[in-house]
Amino acid sequence: LVDLVLDIPPGEGRRAGLEDALRRAVRSGRLPAGTRLPSSRALATDLGCARATVVAAYEQLVVEGYLEARRGSGTVVAPVRVETSAGPSPRRARAAGPAVDLRPGEPDRSSFPRAQWARSLRRVLEHAPDDLLAYGDPLGLPVLRQALVTYLARSRAVAATPEQVVVGRGFTSELGLLARTLVRGGVGTLAVEEAGLPFHHRVARDHGLRIAPVPVDAEGLVVDHLDAVGAGAVLVTPAHQYPLGMTLSPSRRSALLRWARAREAWIVEDDYDGEFRFDRQPVGALQGLDPERVVYAGTTSKSLAAGLRLSWLVLPRPLVDPLLEAHGWPGSVSALEQAALADLIGTGRLDRHVRRVRARYRERRDALVAALAVAAPWLSPTGVAAGLHVSALFDGGPDAERRLVQEAAARSIGLMGLGPHWVGPPRATGLVIGYSRPPAHGYRSALDRLTTFLAEAAPPGVHRGRRGASCDALMIS
Ligand SMILES: Cc1ncc(COP(=O)(O)O)c(C=O)c1O
Repeated sequence: LVDLVLDIPPGEGRRAGLEDALRRAVRSGRLPAGTRLPSSRALATDLGCARATVVAAYEQLVVEGYLEARRGSGTVVAPVRVETSAGPSPRRARAAGPAVDLRPGEPDRSSFPRAQWARSLRRVLEHAPDDLLAYGDPLGLPVLRQALVTYLARSRAVAATPEQVVVGRGFTSELGLLARTLVRGGVGTLAVEEAGLPFHHRVARDHGLRIAPVPVDAEGLVVDHLDAVGAGAVLVTPAHQYPLGMTLSPSRRSALLRWARAREAWIVEDDYDGEFRFDRQPVGALQGLDPERVVYAGTTSKSLAAGLRLSWLVLPRPLVDPLLEAHGWPGSVSALEQAALADLIGTGRLDRHVRRVRARYRERRDALVAALAVAAPWLSPTGVAAGLHVSALFDGGPDAERRLVQEAAARSIGLMGLGPHWVGPPRATGLVIGYSRPPAHGYRSALDRLTTFLAEAAPPGVHRGRRGASCDALMIS
C-alpha cells in the first residue's frame, strides 16, 4: 500500500479539498498510473474524516476518469496525461545527440572495458575488508594513490609519493577545489591559454579566480606574455594543447618552469589525453621536471569513460595541507570504484586497454585527415598526431564557422566550432573534430557523412583546393 501525502488546502470542504488534492497529484505525475490508493477506511483514519467522505471523493474521481475501481484490488490511478510542466525543465531535458557525433570530449563509449572493470569490481567486493566501506581518507583510497604513483611514473614520468595524490571526481571538480585552495593562498589571477575549455574558466571564476588569457602559437603558450598579466598560477595543456593540438616546445617548457620559479607561481598541468600520442613516444609530463611548482592533473574521462568521474591531482607538497583545509568533506569518490581502478592498474589491464584503444584512435585520426585532404582541402588540420580530436582551421571568419556548424547540425552531424573556445576575440576559425565518439562499426559511415557534407559546404570566399590557415598564422609578432 502506498504512503500517501496529500496537500489538502484549508478552507474548502473536506470532500472537495480531497478531490482536488488527488486530481493534482494524478495530473502532475506524482501518483503514476497503476498506483493503488489506500482503502477508504485507511485514508479516512489518516485524514481524520468520515469514511463516506473518502468514498464519495473516490467515486467522483472514477467518474472523471482519474481513478479506476478494480474489483478485488481496490482503487487505482487511471492512465492520465501527465502535465509536462511537472517534468524536467526543457533546459535539463537532454536533447538526443546528433546521428553522427563528431564533437570532441568523449571516448568511444562502446570501447569501455566492461568485462575487465566487472572483474576488478568483483574482486574488490569479494576480497576487500569491511573497512573499505568506512568514510575514507579525503585525499582518496591509499591503495589507489599508490597504484597511481607507480602508473604515472611509468607512463607519464610523473614524480610523486602517494601523500601528494588527491583522487577526485573529474578534473572539472578538482579544478574548483584547487581554485579555492589557491585563492585562500593569495592567488588572484589564473592565466589560461587564450583558447581552452570555457567550462574550466567558469569553474575557476566561480571559485574566486580572475581569468587572464595568454596567447598561444605553434609552440604552445607564449610564456613571455605571462608577466604582463600578473598571474599567481597558470593552467596549461602542454602535451596536447586543447583545442588547437600543438605540444609545448622544449624551450617554452623550460621558460615556463623558469617563470614559475622566479614568480613562485603554480603551473596547473592539465594532462587530459596524455595517454594518446600516435606518432612517437609521448613527451613526459612537465610535473616530472619540477614537482615543487607543477600541479599535475589526470583523468579517466578520455582513457576509460567520462561517466566514471574519476581523476587525480598530484600536488606540490606545500599545497597538500592547504588543499585538505579547503576540501572540508570526507572523500568524494566511491571507495569501491577507487579500489576497482587500483585493481585495473595493478593487474596491467588499464595499460592493455589504453594500448588497444590507442591503436584504434590512431587509425581513426589517419582516416579523418586523409579524407579531409580530399573532400575539404580548405581545412587545415593542426597540431600533433595525438588525442581524440583534431582542430582543422580555415580562412573563413566567425560567421562562416557558425554557419558551418549550424548547417552540419541541420543534417544531424554534430560538430564543434573553435569560436566558443576563445577567451578573448577569436584569432582563428575552424572546427574541432572529435573522432572518438562514434562506435567502431559506425566510424566509416560517420566519415562519409562528414566528407559529403564538407565537400558541399565550403563557406563562401573559401576556395576549394586552397589550403587554409595553420597554427603558424597564430605567430605572435
Ligand atoms: C581540456 C580538458 N581537460 C580536462 C578534461 C577532463 O575533465 P573531467 O575529468 O572533468 O571529465 C577534459 C574533458 O573533456 C578536457 O577537454
